[in-house]
Amino acid sequence: MKNKLILTTILIGLTAALAVNLPVAQEVTSDASNLVVAEGWQEVQATCTECHSSLLITQNSGDKAVWESRIRWMQETQGLQTLNPELEESILNYLAANYGQKTFSRRAPLRTQFMPENPYQPED
Ligand code: HEC
Repeated sequence: MKNKLILTTILIGLTAALAVNLPVAQEVTSDASNLVVAEGWQEVQATCTECHSSLLITQNSGDKAVWESRIRWMQETQGLQTLNPELEESILNYLAANYGQKTFSRRAPLRTQFMPENPYQPED
């Protein structure tokens, strides 16, 4: 009886952990590009790291339209060549899936008790 209870508790816990969809660490390339390893990463590396570091990519985020506008901007002002439509589609899908729009990009502020003392705090 007791064993059954323990087993049920473990099962409920596991189900809950899976249900909240804990973030899984993404695998990144072992070379300097540091791109997320997912379908299309080689095309991004080959096409997008010729003029600048992949850091410009990995530190950015956006949905497909945002990434497309960046590509157009580079084509209009930075000499990026017109891309084959299939290649462009694959690159955009990769970017939107792995560097997608963020709902937030900042952590919550620290609670006052975890902050260093503020020397400028007026005394009351
Ligand atoms: C022909 C050269 C060239 C290629 C190829 C190129 N870029 Fe760029 N890109 C640039 C230049 C130049 C900048 C501006 C760099 C800077 O601000 O220091 C830039 C900037 C960026 C930025 C930052 C834009 C911003 O809003 O700050 C992103 C993101 C980016 N590129 C992504 C890509 C992606 C994705 C590809 C592949 C489709 C790519 N780049 C291929 C030249 C290129």
